[in-house]
Amino acid sequence: MTKAEGTSPVAILVPGNFNDHAIGRIDKAFKRVRIERADPGLVTDEMRRTVRGIACFGGIDAAMIDALPNLEIIANFGVGYDSVDANHAAKRGVMVTNTPDVLTEEVADTTIGLLINTVRDMYAAEKWLRDGDWVKKGNYRLSRLTLRGRRIGIFGMGRIGLAVARRLEAFGLPIAYHNRRKVEGPAYEYHATLKGLAEAVDTLICIAPGGAATEKAINAEILSALGSNGVLVNIGRGSTVDEAALAAALKNGTIAAAGLDVFADEPNVPQALLDAPNTSLLPHIGSASDHTRRAMADLCVDNLVAWFTERRPLTPVPETINVKARG
Ligand code: NAP
Ligand code: 8YV
Repeated sequence: MTKAEGTSPVAILVPGNFNDHAIGRIDKAFKRVRIERADPGLVTDEMRRTVRGIACFGGIDAAMIDALPNLEIIANFGVGYDSVDANHAAKRGVMVTNTPDVLTEEVADTTIGLLINTVRDMYAAEKWLRDGDWVKKGNYRLSRLTLRGRRIGIFGMGRIGLAVARRLEAFGLPIAYHNRRKVEGPAYEYHATLKGLAEAVDTLICIAPGGAATEKAINAEILSALGSNGVLVNIGRGSTVDEAALAAALKNGTIAAAGLDVFADEPNVPQALLDAPNTSLLPHIGSASDHTRRAMADLCVDNLVAWFTERRPLTPVPETINVKARG
């Protein structure tokens, strides 16, 4: 039962710092139980007895799921849920939900901004102005790279990939993509392999999910196939890129530049990527506006409310689509 229904409120475990708007809503509808981090060693007997839901920014492994015998639902704040063990949750009859769609356009906007900054050097040009160099030294240097004439390859033509493609179509650029399955509808050129896509384009935009299936998929071979005019933009997950291979490819001219919003070990960014002059680096801000984070918070909590009032999820992940509410 939620608080509104008057009986004892459902206990929802919230690891670490969480979104303020989501916390406000959880506090109204449920009993929020804090835990420093999602570590089974920190789970108390009372948590074991009472916790029926988790609201989190990912980070829930099999051991954490097993530590909470009365757990029914994990409401992930974010569309990517690679750090939640959804297969184990399904085996245990635990529902996992995520926050698709409400962030799609924001993340697509960020992707375009990151791409343009990577090829046209906006950050360094603005710094030139702010440092007084325009007055002292004259015009900022011409950008070595341009979007003009580029061929775009999207690795992960899903909700966000399609929103990025729509934007880049308006830029007059040809678009190809790689997924495991061909997308019905849009007439973008399909490549059955990532290598085939990388060979066919010079600008690779990764917006595929993280996890074992995409781990280090963008490796030395793919970067070499992209070529010396190549630009990589990664807004998906850091784990999808072999960062050591990328740093080497940027250093030795195998590719021309990279724009990265995500990293394998956030918030730590490899020094070689920080030192490279041809990288544009963002601290995982794809969806990070007040507007969009509030919509994500609402969907995260709406899933908990729907589960505990109507016994159904709003946006279940595919792995747990068949999980049914107990009782
Ligand atoms: P989505 O609609 O599920 O799209 C994912 C696409 O990737 C699908 O088209 C899928 O097609 C393809 N894909 C999945 N696994 C693949 C594999 N092993 N090989 C090739 N293609 C694969 O998800 P979305 O809403 O667009 O979000 C995509 C991802 O973006 C999230 O999972 C998250 O990691 C990331 N993200 C990042 C930020 C940020 O702030 N930087 C924000 C939001 C999301 P097939 O199933 O046919 O392969
Ligand atoms: C968020 C994201 O930054 O939705 C995702 O998959 O990567 C981002 O929108 C993240 O989920 C919130 O921690």
